[in-house]
Amino acid sequence: SIKDLQAIEVLDSRGNPTVRVFATLENGVRVSASVPSGASTGEYEAVELRDGDPTRYGGKGVLKACANVMEVIAPALRGMDAREQLAIDRTMIELDGTENKARLGANAILGVSMAVAKAAAVSEGEELYRYLGGSEARRLPVPCMNILNGGEHADNSVDFQEFMAVPHGAPSFSEGLRYVAETFHTLKKILEAKGYSTAVGDEGGFAPNLGSNEEAIELIVEAIEKSGYKPGIDISIAIDSAATSFSTDKKGHYNLKWSGAGEMTSDDLIALAKEWVAKYPIILWEDPLAEEDWEGFAKFTKELGDKIEVVGDDIFVTNTKFIRRGIEEHTANASLIKLNQIGSVTETVDAVRLCIEHGWRAFLSHRSGETCDSFLADFAVAMGTGHLKSGSASRSERLAKYNRLLEIEAQLGPDALYYWK
Ligand code: PGA
Ligand code: ZN
Repeated sequence: SIKDLQAIEVLDSRGNPTVRVFATLENGVRVSASVPSGASTGEYEAVELRDGDPTRYGGKGVLKACANVMEVIAPALRGMDAREQLAIDRTMIELDGTENKARLGANAILGVSMAVAKAAAVSEGEELYRYLGGSEARRLPVPCMNILNGGEHADNSVDFQEFMAVPHGAPSFSEGLRYVAETFHTLKKILEAKGYSTAVGDEGGFAPNLGSNEEAIELIVEAIEKSGYKPGIDISIAIDSAATSFSTDKKGHYNLKWSGAGEMTSDDLIALAKEWVAKYPIILWEDPLAEEDWEGFAKFTKELGDKIEVVGDDIFVTNTKFIRRGIEEHTANASLIKLNQIGSVTETVDAVRLCIEHGWRAFLSHRSGETCDSFLADFAVAMGTGHLKSGSASRSERLAKYNRLLEIEAQLGPDALYYWK
């Protein structure tokens, strides 16, 4: 049972404070878990509690969230069985008492929720993916590697936030990871040859100042081919527009400000996507429209949903309330899944299950601000939903997840499964 919970402020991959929780059980097990943090966040995400004290980290300190773990959450959970994930998460949600975890902070609650899961797995002598997913947990996710960054994750001239290489044609996770890591290295050479910058963005992908958004796709196709792979067969492309970040009213008007492409409507963006999907090996498109553009999203899905995976991130924020509406209104055919958008392990599992029950896909994701905690890798195998994004083949907080998946694959040996759909 839970003996103690401690929390300290550590720094994430952008140098901003985040919460690390240490869970100690009566049997002597002691583990830690660290919470990630987004930049292009959805409006209805669970609240990340920040101190707001301008004299510390520009107001971004998380000492209050840490204090909430030790002074409010720990006394309430002390003595509970760490395996009682549902009861533990429910107790914290009730203690918080708000709709969006604004009182205790989703960073405090999620830190405890993840640490308790890890502690229970260690106590049971089980790997985390096996503890959370059972003996059926043996499907490795296709690593959607974000090799070119734009939008709010970089200071360049690309409006769309993420361009990912998706090795769905590889025979295994490790081979898939090799395909896209090689593509990443080839892309660097191509950018160098063209005189572009090879500096990287928040998620470790290159962030060059390109002539247009479309050039990003052309360069990636070239990198796939020059690496010896077949675009569309071995490796396809996924895009996260993160369109909320260049929406002017969130309801159908956009300004592609970074590239200078200028103002566009939902219909313009849909027409552009149709053109690209016909021309390039695109397999998945996330947040093609903004979080409150439900109508545009449904139109996009009507036009392209039978050809590609259409993923909602900011619009659903891993919240079953919004995913349920999305299922009813045919808004998309998949949801992004981020633990800290909703703020507990139990609620994240609920969101994944809701997707699966309705024939939607669940796309597991890191955040742009990360730590080397690899919880997400185990969680992806436990959920078995077939794909995840964890940034590029650069920056150790990104590689920590991919490397943990290599470990899990090696442990599973011939039992490991790998397929796109
Ligand atoms: P974020 O970006 O972590 O900055 O929100 C990730 C995403 O939009 O998918
Ligand atoms: Zn996104």
